[in-house]
Amino acid sequence: MIAVRNLTMRLSAGGHSVTILDDVTVEVPEKQMVAITGPSGSGKSTLLGLIAGLDKPTAGSIRLDGVEITALPENQMARYRRQKIGYIFQSFHLIPTLTALENVAVPLELNGDDHARAGAAELLAEVGLHDRQFHYPVQLSGGEQQRVAVARAFACRPPILLADEPTGNLDSAAGRQVIDLILSLHRDHGSTLVLVTHDPALATYAERIITLRDGRIASDVPATAGPRGAASGPRSPGEQP
Ligand SMILES: Nc1ncnc2c1ncn2[C@@H]1O[C@H](COP(=O)(O)OP(=O)(O)O)[C@@H](O)[C@H]1O
Ligand SMILES: [Mg+2]
Repeated sequence: MIAVRNLTMRLSAGGHSVTILDDVTVEVPEKQMVAITGPSGSGKSTLLGLIAGLDKPTAGSIRLDGVEITALPENQMARYRRQKIGYIFQSFHLIPTLTALENVAVPLELNGDDHARAGAAELLAEVGLHDRQFHYPVQLSGGEQQRVAVARAFACRPPILLADEPTGNLDSAAGRQVIDLILSLHRDHGSTLVLVTHDPALATYAERIITLRDGRIASDVPATAGPRGAASGPRSPGEQP
């Protein structure tokens, strides 16, 4: 369960303070898939980054499975994030000097896994990149890089997956593959999924759509329930609504 309460984020820019998130309160139950949409600049990435503990809010609290993460010192937060949170960035953020295999192995190694490379190889096979293990990011297409990033985000089987416009830098075919992958990991492993997107088609795979505007929640509604609406889980991408 993700519980965000009265979350406010202010930054100073050019000598005056700018409010980026304004008293946001929201709960996401375990295993739910929620889409966050809203215009550019509405605070989506800021909210996701705060939930991942990448930044500290000006005010308010964030509890993940009962743990108040805003109170954790950075070293504890880093460990907590590695074990509990998978984060997928729009621009992949792979380490350019490491191969695909090594990129995926990093979180496993940091967690003290003695079989990190074997585990990473398995994950790469799972995302369809068995034959790209020894390639460097620059040798991979955008879609392939993002699939490596998805494998890395999921390496430690985190209960929470956060994805910030994961298909934003991809063409529609590659984007579709990446989204299929994220949805199947969410479904097969029962992780909670918070997906930031401004693609309305993508948002319909969620059970619930939250819209941000000017740093506030403008709406929070169940996704339009088709034949397989919220009650029976998200539609699979191939299905007609
Ligand atoms: N480090 C920063 N300093 C000042 N303003 C920032 C900073 N980061 C983001 N912003 C501003 O905060 C607002 C929300 O940004 P962001 O969370 O990235 O929005 P979104 O992801 O919805 O496009 C934008 O107006 C952006 O310019
Ligand atoms: Mg953003």
